Amino acid sequence: WVWKCDATNELCTRLPSQGNSNSETLYPSLEVCRLICGKYGSLWPQPTISTKISDELFMFPLSVIKFEFSIKDGEAKEILQGMPNIFLQLLSLEDTSNCPQTTNKVTIHITVNSDNISLDWSTNETYSLEVKTEGNQNSVQIISNTIYGARHALETLSQLTEFYPRNDGSTCLAMVDEVLIVDAPVYPHRGLLLDTARNFISVTSIKKHIDGMAASKLNVLHWHITDSQSFPLDLPNLPNMTKYGAYSADKIYHPNDIKELLSYAKLRGVRIIIEIDAPAHAGNGWQWGPQAGLGDLAVCINQQPFRSYCIESPCGQLNPVNPNLYTILKVLYNDIINMLPKGEVFHMGGDEVYIPCWNSTPEIIKFIGDKPRTTETFLDLWSSYQAQALKAYDAGVGNTNTPIILWTSHLTEIDVIEKYLPKERYIIQTWVPAADNLPKNLLALGYKIIVSTKDTWYLDHGFWGSTVYHNWRVVYNNKIPRDYGVLGGEVCMWGEYVDETSVESRTWPRAAAAAERLWTDSSISVNVAAKRFYRHRERLVSRGINAEALIPRWCYQNEGQC
Ligand SMILES: *[C@@H]1O[C@H](CO)[C@@H](O)[C@H](O)[C@H]1NC(C)=O
Ligand SMILES: *[C@@H]1O[C@H](CO)[C@@H](O)[C@H](O)[C@H]1NC(C)=O
Ligand SMILES: *[C@@H]1O[C@H](CO)[C@@H](O)[C@H](O)[C@H]1NC(C)=O
Repeated sequence: WVWKCDATNELCTRLPSQGNSNSETLYPSLEVCRLICGKYGSLWPQPTISTKISDELFMFPLSVIKFEFSIKDGEAKEILQGMPNIFLQLLSLEDTSNCPQTTNKVTIHITVNSDNISLDWSTNETYSLEVKTEGNQNSVQIISNTIYGARHALETLSQLTEFYPRNDGSTCLAMVDEVLIVDAPVYPHRGLLLDTARNFISVTSIKKHIDGMAASKLNVLHWHITDSQSFPLDLPNLPNMTKYGAYSADKIYHPNDIKELLSYAKLRGVRIIIEIDAPAHAGNGWQWGPQAGLGDLAVCINQQPFRSYCIESPCGQLNPVNPNLYTILKVLYNDIINMLPKGEVFHMGGDEVYIPCWNSTPEIIKFIGDKPRTTETFLDLWSSYQAQALKAYDAGVGNTNTPIILWTSHLTEIDVIEKYLPKERYIIQTWVPAADNLPKNLLALGYKIIVSTKDTWYLDHGFWGSTVYHNWRVVYNNKIPRDYGVLGGEVCMWGEYVDETSVESRTWPRAAAAAERLWTDSSISVNVAAKRFYRHRERLVSRGINAEALIPRWCYQNEGQC
């Protein structure tokens, strides 16, 4: 087969390789055709500010690529200099060593204006990417404010470069020869939640997710690392947490693993936000209090019948009336703070506190004393837990400025949230269906929010209870509010029904559909996006991510025909 670009419809058309007229430009693969066909070629996500891509290709062997850097000496430069290796690895996924050596040259010049390496919601991720070709000289100019903008530019450049199988049997690299792209994301928080507590996922597998995120310009890995089922995070000063909470000795994340993942992610423009869900979703790992003379740190642990004490088995909820809990939390938070970059935000969970658990615990009933045990009494208890947990956290960081994220819950309901959670301090992650007004109402009160649309952006749905699977089109079409207070959104891969054998294919490529929503927030129809998305799915697979199939191969090879 060969392909030609139908420029009017921006579609690549498959033809038999014999008997075509010489006047047509034909490409040896769909991938090469897709590079130049249509305004946005094969780029995912679609750039936002301006995009010009020529329909000519420049061919060269891998060995002629040279990098030049303009950036102040220091840590930023060191990180920046590590980024081209990732780019070159992607260009080495196919063997091009038999590409004839030519006098063609490719020079990639990267200018980064700031040496600030912090990656947060005010990081400037803007970049411009210009490719020019004169004779046998191809020059690429990347200009960005931060190293993360430069990283995005290299990702885009990798999507403008393709393996080109030539008639003589050799394979070369082909890059679009004239390009001008200026690009910046719509939302600063573009996240994927991974849950490694219900089922453990290895560091190797987490890295693959980070690869998929980098390919799709997602920038936040929200790591739901612990839950009531297991506590796989090794804390140097609290070895009992994994001793009592890990599934086994090889299902533990050690501080070195965290360090390795943080730097792996940083090099790929991804920050890692750690969540220790509490006071609910905490059980296994917390059983050792009585034996250590500290009393019950958590209550209702693994209690049955679970439906009387929690929403999902096994039960467990921290014991808010035990003062020793806060001493232990201080140690726990301190260990985590020491693993993370200075000033990094922290996710304190805060969802699904189940009042009947506390309301059936003698120690808590005694603490409440003569007060009526109403919902309000328990909300007060919960919020006093939250305030003390925050104090324990702040003692560890040594200031009271670190943003804290909490899930929506009874505490975040519109009529009570201002009483319990100051908006200067708390960012609220909403997990309600699209039709729910809660996000809008929180914005109206002045809270900053992160949107995880329940159902649509819950990638675990469709495999349990009455939940429904949402295909990539539905994920893509999920619009979230455009408002100063909306930091962005996250798709959530809850881990009850996936482990390492299936988590990649259940997450990808659908997480990448959300990535374009969060980067571009375009109003184009999903049918127009489809050809680029199908190409992106192939890209993920070629990079070693087991992204699930979207269509029959015939439909991939015959764009617009299915
Ligand atoms: C670095 O950038 C962050 C925003 O990403 C900003 O908050 C911080 O103040 C900057 N640091 C310096 C030293 O300019
Ligand atoms: C981000 O950096 C670009 C230059 O790369 C600059 O043009 C733009 O104004 C910056 N954006 C903000 C919000 O500072
Ligand atoms: C760990 O738990 C044991 C009980 O199994 C207790 O005796 C010990 O004091 C605990 N260790 C720490 C460091 O708290």
